[in-house]
Amino acid sequence: MIKTWKSLFREPITYKTEVPFSQEDLAEPIRLNRATLQSVDNWIDEEAFARSYFQYGVPGFLKPVINQPIGYAPTYTDVMVLLAKRYFQKINYLEIGVSVGKNFFQLLNALDNTQFSAFDIEEINPVLARRLSAGTRTEWDTPGKSIKKNKSSLSQFTYKTNTVNYISGDVWDANSWAKMEGNKFNLVFSDALHTPEAILFEFEMLVKYGLLADRFIIVWDDLVGKMQHSFFKIIRKYNKVYQIKDIYLLEINGWVGKNEGPHSVGLISNFAF
Ligand SMILES: C[S@@+](CC[C@H](N)C(=O)[O-])C[C@H]1O[C@@H](n2cnc3c(N)ncnc32)[C@H](O)[C@@H]1O
Repeated sequence: MIKTWKSLFREPITYKTEVPFSQEDLAEPIRLNRATLQSVDNWIDEEAFARSYFQYGVPGFLKPVINQPIGYAPTYTDVMVLLAKRYFQKINYLEIGVSVGKNFFQLLNALDNTQFSAFDIEEINPVLARRLSAGTRTEWDTPGKSIKKNKSSLSQFTYKTNTVNYISGDVWDANSWAKMEGNKFNLVFSDALHTPEAILFEFEMLVKYGLLADRFIIVWDDLVGKMQHSFFKIIRKYNKVYQIKDIYLLEINGWVGKNEGPHSVGLISNFAF
């Protein structure tokens, strides 16, 4: 379905509410992703949770279902895997807000020869870290006003043919974004601070540090209420520079699948699907 976002004195923006993919197109990503999830019994490391600043973004009501089977209805992860394989020869992926790593680990298993970057206020979940081969780590000071009270860091890992850069830093810390300079991300998933101000700031950082590739797809989770205003504001503000071609606002399952309602997920690309 095609819908229109209207706001006073501005050009309306049209967007679609369904991605143009069939059940058949999504069957392989769903198979791969459910197999990856089955390979991890328990995503929760209680010690890491006790040390965390944000409980890895897992609210109390979701903690009991975080390890439950998610069902076979498509999730945002399934759509991202399909998009990655269909539209890019080589992916440079950034996830802002990685949590325990459920979405991240599914993509790590679905894609080869890929550069992965993760950005979260928490240290990497030990459950995820144990599955990767560790490399170097560098640290820098976290701004005093951040809720993060230890040093920020960039830790490098490898996983099969993939490389992983994990930034433990605050989204509001421009220094942490600067550490990613030189990357040209073509698939970005924004799923950290679900506030209208934060997603605008993130986009400013992507622009400031030249972090977007010539062809890109950006996905946002939880675009409800004022978050939708920020989504359309980003599109309006940056359309001239990036020539955004496709805009979607979907209702689709998230990281715990059938164990909660669908998420409102926004997606833009600067090429047509
Ligand atoms: C909803 S979870 C991410 C779920 C994950 N993307 C998935 O699909 O599996 C949100 C994450 O954002 C992180 N986060 C919250 N505030 C942050 C901030 N200011 N800077 C960086 N990360 C933050 C939380 O620690 C949490 O891990």
